[in-house]
Amino acid sequence: MRLDRRQWMTGAIGFAAFASAPAFAQTLRNYPFTLGVASGDPFPDGFVLWTRLATRPMEPGHGMPQAIFTVKYQVATDERFTHIVQQGEAMATPEMGHAVHVEINGLLPARPYFYRFLVDGHASRTGMVRTAPLAGKDVAALRIGVAGCQNYEHGYFTAYKYMAAENLDAIFHYGDYIYEGRQGRKTDIPTIRDHIGPEPETLAQYRMRHTQYRLDPDLQAAHAACAFLMTYDDHEVDNNWAGKIDENGTDPEKFVLRRFAAMQAWYENMPVRAAQLPQADGIQMFRRLDYGSLLRIHLMDTRQYRDDQFCTSEAKEHCRKEGLDSGLLLGNRQHQWLHDGLDNRFGWNLIAQQVVVMPYNGRTNGAGENEIAADSWMGYPESRRRLVSAIQAKQISNAVIATGDVHQNIVGYLPANDQEPDRNQVATEFVCTSISSLGDGRDIKVRGADFRKIIAGNPNVLFANGQRGYQVFSISPTEWRTDIMKVDKVSDQTGKLSRLAGFTMERGSPLAIPS
Ligand SMILES: [Fe+2]
Repeated sequence: MRLDRRQWMTGAIGFAAFASAPAFAQTLRNYPFTLGVASGDPFPDGFVLWTRLATRPMEPGHGMPQAIFTVKYQVATDERFTHIVQQGEAMATPEMGHAVHVEINGLLPARPYFYRFLVDGHASRTGMVRTAPLAGKDVAALRIGVAGCQNYEHGYFTAYKYMAAENLDAIFHYGDYIYEGRQGRKTDIPTIRDHIGPEPETLAQYRMRHTQYRLDPDLQAAHAACAFLMTYDDHEVDNNWAGKIDENGTDPEKFVLRRFAAMQAWYENMPVRAAQLPQADGIQMFRRLDYGSLLRIHLMDTRQYRDDQFCTSEAKEHCRKEGLDSGLLLGNRQHQWLHDGLDNRFGWNLIAQQVVVMPYNGRTNGAGENEIAADSWMGYPESRRRLVSAIQAKQISNAVIATGDVHQNIVGYLPANDQEPDRNQVATEFVCTSISSLGDGRDIKVRGADFRKIIAGNPNVLFANGQRGYQVFSISPTEWRTDIMKVDKVSDQTGKLSRLAGFTMERGSPLAIPS
C-alpha cells in the first residue's frame, strides 16, 4: 500500500508520539526476577499470576530502564514444563513499576498448576497455584493459611518458610504487608533489620518499601507455594487511616493523594486481579471467593469506607466527636454487600477481615486499650450490630471470622449483644498473631497484656497468646479446625515451629472448642 502525503504525515506524527513514549527493544542483562513470583484469587478456571522486574531492586528505579518489556508466561501441569497448557506475553511498563499481572482462565478446576515467567533469556523461579473447585461442587477438604502483620524491622519472616512447606490451598493475608513507619523506634521492640528510606509518602517511596519486603526469601517462598488472598490494613498506607482521614489531621484532599500512591504501589506488588486496580476515588478491594459448596470467603475492607475513629478522650484531636454510635466501619454499601452475600448453602462462610470484631477487654500492644478499641469494631458498635443481624437474618450457623491487627492470637465468640458476651453467640473469631510485628513475644504476658487475666475477664474469650506465627484452617463439610502455629522467635533466623493450640467446630454450631 502506498501512502499519500496526508497519511504519511499522520503516520509520522504517530511514530513521533510513539518514539517519545518508553521504547521496546532493550535487553536486560542482569537477572530481573529478584522479587520472585506470586499468584492470587483462584477461580475454578484460573487465577492471577504476578511478577515484577527489578534488576537492581534497591536502587532508584529498581535498576530498570524507562522502557517496556515483553515478558512471557507459561502455565503447565508439571513442574518441568513438559505439559504447558497456556502461554503468552504480557507487558511490564515503567508506569506500573514493571509489574506484570496475568489473569489466566480456561483451566480445569481444583488442581495444581505450575507457572513461570521468561524475559531476555532469564527464567523466574517456578510457582505453584491451585484452581478453585467448581461452583456448587462437593469439596472434601481445604487448607487455608492465615498470615499478616510483617514488620520487617521487628524480625525475620521465618513463619513464611514454614507456611511454604504446609501444602496450603491458599493464604489469606489480613494486611500490614509493609509498615510505613519506624515502629521499632517508638517502642521497646529491638530493631532486627532496618527499613531503608524515610516513611513513604510518594509512589517511588512506597515502591521502594514494598521492594525491600519483597526481597525477603521466606516471603518469596510462601508466595511461590500457593495463592495469596490479599487484603490491606492500615500500614500499607499510614497508621490507623480511616477513609480519607489520616491520624494527623492532614487535609483529606491531600491525604487521598498519598493514599492513591500507596494503593498503586500495593496493586503493583500484589497478586490481585485488574478489578483491584486503584481508581481515582479508591480501590475495589472487598470481594468474594468461593470454593465449591464448601467455603465462601468474604474478603473485607475495614479501612477505606470507615468513619474516623471515635475520640478516646476530650482532649484528643482529629477523631470522631459525635459519639460512639455515630460511625460505620464498613460503610453502607459494603454492609449491604456482606448481608446479600452471606449464604447458608455453603458449608462455611469465612468473613476474612482485619480488625477485632468481638467485644474484647484487654490492654494490648502498648498502644493502650482505648486506642485499640477505637480502631476495632468496638469503636463502631452500629457496624457490629449490623453484622450480627445479617448473620441472624440470613440464618448463618457457620460463620467464621478471621482477623489480624493486634499481634496476638485470640480465639473467642461474637455475642449477639455486647452487654451479654457469654450469651447467644453467633460466630467464632480467630484473631491471628503476626509474622514478626512486636518481635519474639511471650505466651503469658506482653507489655501490659496479661493473657490469663484477659481470658478470666472476658467470658467470650477462650484463648489469648502473644507469640509469633500463623494459623491454618483445615476445612471439611463436617468440621472446621484451626491450628495455631507458633514460631518461637523472630529475632534471628533459627525460629522453630510448633503447634500452640487447636480448636474445632462442627457444622451447624458456630462455636469452636479446644481440641
Ligand atoms: Fe500490624
